[in-house]
Amino acid sequence: MEVYSEKQQIIKAIELLKAKSQIVGLVPTMGALHAGHLALVERALKKNDRVAVSIFVNPTQFDNSDDLKKYPRTLEKDVALLQTLSKDKILVYAPTVDDVYEGKTVSESFDFDGLEFEMEGKFRHGHFDGVGTIVKRLFEIVKPHNAYFGEKDFQQLQIIKKLIEKHHIPVKIEGCPIHREATGLAMSSRNTRLKPEYLEAAPFIYKTLTTAKKIFGTKSASKVTEWVENQFSNHDLLELEYFIIADAKTLKPVKRKSNKKVYRAFIAVYADDIRLIDNIALN
Ligand code: PAF
Repeated sequence: MEVYSEKQQIIKAIELLKAKSQIVGLVPTMGALHAGHLALVERALKKNDRVAVSIFVNPTQFDNSDDLKKYPRTLEKDVALLQTLSKDKILVYAPTVDDVYEGKTVSESFDFDGLEFEMEGKFRHGHFDGVGTIVKRLFEIVKPHNAYFGEKDFQQLQIIKKLIEKHHIPVKIEGCPIHREATGLAMSSRNTRLKPEYLEAAPFIYKTLTTAKKIFGTKSASKVTEWVENQFSNHDLLELEYFIIADAKTLKPVKRKSNKKVYRAFIAVYADDIRLIDNIALN
């Protein structure tokens, strides 16, 4: 498997593939790969001749320098995991910050029609400008036909769909279902940093989401929100940052339920100093 650290190398490799009419998929990641990432790569392998996997901890999407510093970096292990999926169909792009940002590690400013101001946008300043910047850059470098993103970052997925629509980027975006541990905890590279007692506590997040979904069948969004906030106010280890029921398309918080709309519940929780997010389809 080729592991490229410079964009010129992968640009060349992809050009050669495209000259042979190969269909190319892209799975952007920040590494510390887990089964959720591998499911994205497997899906991409089924639908493309070749799959580029980018492994890059993107500094511009972090609003907390400690979180950036502590983000797990496990390139060798990641490459070994990818080898188990395919020895010859995957290309890895694992650049340095300089290779991507060329000395100017700053974000572009984006207008995502308001999607960027909800939820994660409120709590992580500049996050979606950073995500938009890196994803647009990866699309320009790899020029994939298809790209794959997990629904755990549902807001990110909607924003990337908006990015390609507004910037006329010819990439087909596919969202893939959340991968969970047997306990229900959504898989995340950050889970590896959880101390044992927090790892044991964290499945409470999904358990609460599934009950919230049941309650939403008969109760208003504000009643469900109140119930969830209560669950966390009594919790010793987990601290709720937000729970929001929103329109799955606009991501605007629901005021009055309508049968015609599709809703999703979104949650962010601190387990010690580690921030975990999750979401669930409600109808
Ligand atoms: O979802 C992620 O891991 C990152 O936000 C992404 C899309 C790879 C951009 O850095």
